[in-house]
Order: sequence, then C-alpha cells, then structure tokens
Amino acid sequence: MTPKDRLIIALDLPSAEEAQNAVSAIGEAGAFYKIGYQLMPVGGLDLARRLSDGGKKVFLDFKFHDIGATVERGVKSVCKLGGDFLTVHAEPDVLKGAVEGRGDDKRLKIFGVTVLTSLDQDSLKLSGIDMKIEDLVLKRTEFAAEAGADGVVASAKEAASIKARFGDALAIVTPGIRPAGASADDQKRIVTPADAIRAGADYLVVGRPVIAAADPRNAAIEISTEIASALARRA
Ligand code: C5P
Repeated sequence: MTPKDRLIIALDLPSAEEAQNAVSAIGEAGAFYKIGYQLMPVGGLDLARRLSDGGKKVFLDFKFHDIGATVERGVKSVCKLGGDFLTVHAEPDVLKGAVEGRGDDKRLKIFGVTVLTSLDQDSLKLSGIDMKIEDLVLKRTEFAAEAGADGVVASAKEAASIKARFGDALAIVTPGIRPAGASADDQKRIVTPADAIRAGADYLVVGRPVIAAADPRNAAIEISTEIASALARRA
C-alpha cells in the first residue's frame, strides 16, 4: 500500500458531474474516493461503479443503521456495486448483518462508525447515554471486532487507544484532518495528517482541503507526502 492509498478524498459535491471533474483534476494523485449521501441520489452509485472500473478505490459512506436482516440485504446489494469500504453504525446486530451480507466477497471491507465526531458528552447524555465518549468508542470498537468487521471510523483523539487495545486487527479511518495552516471549516477537533498517522490512523478522510483547493492535485500530493514521512517516523 502506498501513502496515497491511505488518503480517502471525500467527494462532497452536489453533482456526479462535479465529482467526476474533481477526480479528473486530481488524476493519478488520487487513488481512493469517498462517496456519501450527497452524491448517492444524484448519480453517485454510477460514479462509484465507474471509479471502481477505472481502478480507483471507493469508500461508500452510507452509515447503514437498521435491523440486522435489512442491513444484510442492503450490503448484499452494495457488493454488486464493487466498492471497497462500507460504513455501518457500530452496533452488534447492524455489524453482524453487514458481515453476513458481505459473505465471501472479502473485497468489501466493513467499517463500524463508533461515535460521530459532531457528538459531545452533552449530546450523548441527551440520548440517555452516560458513558464517557472514549469508553463508548472502545465498546463499539469491540462490537466491530467481535462481529468480524474490518475496521472502525474514529477521531484521531481515540485512534491511539484503539490501536493500543486492538493492534492491527482493525483498521482505523479518521476524518477531521487539516494540513497545518488550512481552514478548519466547520470541523471542531482537527488534526494534521502527520498527527493522525502518528496517533495510529490507517486511512485519512479529507474533503475540502483537497476538493476546494485552488490546485486539488497538488493538495492531494502534499497530503500524501506528509503521510509518507509520518509513516516513516512511525515505523
Ligand atoms: O471537508 P472535510 O475534510 O471536513 O470532510 C470530512 C468528511 O468526513 C466529510 O465527508 C464528513 O461527512 C466525514 N466525516 C466527518 N466526521 C465524522 C464522520 C465522517 O467529518 N465523524
């Protein structure tokens, strides 16, 4: 795996055409793309298929959350798309359904979303959860491991404790990344690519710092370079 395979560029754009233009502008500097809700109903699934056929890796950020049987059937359908990573909420039945649905199609990796980074202790309390965020992240990571999922989505803040407890058994995908000096946009807890890799993240999800950059290709190259030197220091 090369450093650019660890950079998942979020195609958070309003149309499949704009997303395709971004992919073309980034060219060989981008190897992995995230497609989420915004694109899904407006041609995002066809784009996912085209990217896959064109040799790019695709992260389907669909965050499934339903009864296990429905998740299982949904994931079976997703397997026909040809994506590489799929997110579901990290609850036992949801994870088990997803792993069942994936079956022997080991290409599609299942990632459990632990606790959304937009939630803080007060918002958890409002939902009736008294547990500390870090403990809840670890508990849900344990659900992911027990269900046979491939990894979790977690903030860089929690990556180190996940790595310490689960080692390389689960891959960690980390959003909220900003190169030094970049605008934070609406992200509250941001870390640099190097710090996220040092904390134990395996893949970084980066949106606006690449797709809204004056030169998206160069922005992607710079982040991959930063990932490469942080990996060299981590080794
Ligand atoms: O533009 P930016 O780099 O902030 O985009 C981050 C991407 O990661 C967005 O697609 C966002 O939905 C996603 N994400 C996140 N925080 C999470 C989970 C997903 O920012 N906890």
